[in-house]
Amino acid sequence: MNGSAWGSGGRVSRRSVIGMFAALGAPPVLGGTAGAAARPRWTVLRARPARVDLGRRTVATWAYDDVVPGPLIRATAGGTVRARLVNELPAPTTVHWHGIRIAFPMDGAPGVSQEATRPGETFDYEFTVPDAGTYFYHSHVGMQNDRGLYGALIVDDPHEPLRYDEEYTVVLDDWLDGVNGTPDDELRRLNSSSEHDDSIRSAALGGVAGETLYPYYLVNGRRPSAPVTFSARPGARARFRVINAAADTAFRFAIGGHRLTVTHTDGFPCAPVTVDTVMIGMGERYDFLVTLEDGAFPLVAAAEGKRARAFAVVRTSPRPAAPKPGARVPQLNGRMLTYGDLNARREDQLPTATKSVRVKLGMRPSGSEWTLNGRLANDPLRLRVDEGETIRIVMENESPMWHPMHLHGHTFQVRGRTGRRGPRKDTVNIMPRERLRIDVHADNPGEWMFHCHNLYHQEQGMMGVLGYGPQRRDLRMPHGTNGGTSGGTHSGGHGRPDRRTQDDRPGGREQGNGQGNGQGNGQGNGQGSRQGKGRRDDRRYRLGGH
Ligand code: C2O
Ligand code: CU
Repeated sequence: MNGSAWGSGGRVSRRSVIGMFAALGAPPVLGGTAGAAARPRWTVLRARPARVDLGRRTVATWAYDDVVPGPLIRATAGGTVRARLVNELPAPTTVHWHGIRIAFPMDGAPGVSQEATRPGETFDYEFTVPDAGTYFYHSHVGMQNDRGLYGALIVDDPHEPLRYDEEYTVVLDDWLDGVNGTPDDELRRLNSSSEHDDSIRSAALGGVAGETLYPYYLVNGRRPSAPVTFSARPGARARFRVINAAADTAFRFAIGGHRLTVTHTDGFPCAPVTVDTVMIGMGERYDFLVTLEDGAFPLVAAAEGKRARAFAVVRTSPRPAAPKPGARVPQLNGRMLTYGDLNARREDQLPTATKSVRVKLGMRPSGSEWTLNGRLANDPLRLRVDEGETIRIVMENESPMWHPMHLHGHTFQVRGRTGRRGPRKDTVNIMPRERLRIDVHADNPGEWMFHCHNLYHQEQGMMGVLGYGPQRRDLRMPHGTNGGTSGGTHSGGHGRPDRRTQDDRPGGREQGNGQGNGQGNGQGNGQGSRQGKGRRDDRRYRLGGH
């Protein structure tokens, strides 16, 4: 129960493509009669209550195989992942493979691609991973992803074009489970009040950055007071694969004394660009190449607007003392990546879109119901497309908060304001009052969730579907699935989806000009003091001036 499968810092030999399952006990042999040579390799993910050590603090939570993050899963592009979910939780659950262009029945989307797996039951996920890159997996039921039910999924390129000496997987998270109640308690708290504390602010995120101050922010399941160390020799070229698995926190990522060369966004390669810092929304991933100096350096992921941070150490020499969690990192206020800096490779350009559909992101006056074209998840927006076509989704954020919008099953192309073909991504941050265009090539038939990856917004209704059948009309959303303590999601939560769902057909041409897709380059966090309201901030981890 202690520590994690990440050992001393998640260092992974590039040669060990098999992952870490061998250490996790004998995998079951499925498909029994096949000869030994034909036996597929199965990873077992046991979802169950566990006590997990976050570094000088052990918490009760739900996790895969008793570790946070869950076991690292590694595969090779074109290969197959086989993972058996064993549900030992007191609630139904699923595993969603975030960012993978997956076969629809394996998507782990409850009520859409499958019925959630009940307590005591198992579900076998078996799917091809067509594209190399940095991905992750997580429960897709209720607030479970804000517990410990997430892990990294790395797909290696058999012809990896990048050269590097070391590779590290860095999973970021915001943590309250077992410290300040549970994520379900937090959702109920947000739902029960019409007064919304908007003092968590960030200029770079266009206003309110988040709604919850978490007691801890974690790198690979560790608090800043007991950080992981990523070690290498001086001068080594290191690849960092950074995943934001948080529920309500964007992280501003930097490594003290170093610049970051961005090579991939959401798993897909981009033309390399070198910056000081990158804002990473929930569900986004970035890969960086860094040539490491001689010494010991702070790796920081500042919880944007929340005046706290996740922290780890990068060490290439045994001599210097480890940097302190509060170490000053000027790179955090240096040149920040914008989407405008990112370009897809020529071979990753999508065909020109032939249709366009508008999706308005809204908030109802309650302040705890978030909508897509005015609709909530219990009567979801369904964007209908035809297989083979490319559609443009024009998102207009009319709500007062930013949203990391995620589409299942596809990697879309972000288009710049002048039509420039920007990066391939599966999760994109859209700021308040911003209009942002993405092109989606419908080459993977199914019903695909399209939602905000702020988990609270997702559960408060911000969930639609992009569909080109086969629709599974036999499925039900799990109800009261969060350990029986849920239910507080009033009209915005997941109810049974309304089968009278109307399609929103892509209409005519898009009107007007986009406002561009920059993430803004605002510096520093908004100020504003947080007052009472029953928040239990842990000031020990508040940091001055990052
Ligand atoms: Cu990682 Cu539907 O999400
Ligand atoms: Cu949102």
